[in-house]
Amino acid sequence: MLFKVGMCFYFLVVATVQSATPTILYSKQSPFGLIEVVATAEPGVLKICENRVYDAMHSIFKQGDPTYLGLLYAPLVTTSFCFSQKLEKVLLLGLGAGDFLSYMMKYFPDAQVDAVEINPVMINIVKKFREKDMAKAPNYLCEDGFKYIDKATKKYDLIFCDMYFGKPTISKKYNGLFKKLKNLLNEEGVFIWNAYFNFIPRVVAEDMLKSFENIVAAITTDGLNIVFICYQGPAKSKEELEKIAKDIQSKYNFRYSLTDQLQKFKLITPADHETWAAKFPVLE
Ligand SMILES: C[S@@+](CC[C@H](N)C(=O)[O-])C[C@H]1O[C@@H](n2cnc3c(N)ncnc32)[C@H](O)[C@@H]1O
Repeated sequence: MLFKVGMCFYFLVVATVQSATPTILYSKQSPFGLIEVVATAEPGVLKICENRVYDAMHSIFKQGDPTYLGLLYAPLVTTSFCFSQKLEKVLLLGLGAGDFLSYMMKYFPDAQVDAVEINPVMINIVKKFREKDMAKAPNYLCEDGFKYIDKATKKYDLIFCDMYFGKPTISKKYNGLFKKLKNLLNEEGVFIWNAYFNFIPRVVAEDMLKSFENIVAAITTDGLNIVFICYQGPAKSKEELEKIAKDIQSKYNFRYSLTDQLQKFKLITPADHETWAAKFPVLE
């Protein structure tokens, strides 16, 4: 069973949006189980559930409101806008219901986005329920993100990795992934990793930490996820980042204030690696 309440970052808003008798708006069998779009008690807010488990969700979004971010980790991801000089070429590994995509496209409508998603039904859902709220559609790539990275040569300004199913990841899958991702970044490119503690083996976290020079990280308030933001180029001081956040916020007027989000992040130095890696379980 995927994504149980209390087990995963997908379920942070369950208590407020759950309805007793679910209204199913879309239902389709996928290679990874039955996927349904379910109405919630909150008008316009929909959740994506799997195999008729309605107290759990893959994603949550609000139709007609592209900047609505219902899950705790998502506003943290937007902090990446402080680190990227430009957002022309973007790679999403794990599209889900396109929460981050929808938010980003609202503020950066010219971005060219490659959205890699293994589940064709998730792509269908984005097309059916979310595309109308976006300035333009991404380039959908229905394939395994790990395989995509093996053959990719294109360079990106921003890469967001968020590929999960409802069980811990096998560390072997991540072998060499971060090194390859780093090579796909432009000179001042940014890599974001939404790391779910319970599903990521410690060795994978250790590998990520040693693959990038400049890393900041924030833990969600429920303690279930860490959002890592890794950036290329010279290290930025706290003061420099605060000024950038303030300037970009006043330019774009983001729904989730960049200055507020930035405050939740801590700089990770090599001396801190062991402490951060120790937050992850020792898994195969
Ligand atoms: C948490 S969701 C991503 C949510 C997304 N970040 C957003 O902004 O809405 C995780 C997604 O990763 C996808 N996924 C899992 N393994 C994958 C893989 N190996 N390659 C590509 N997508 C994968 C799942 O199908 C699911 O849609």
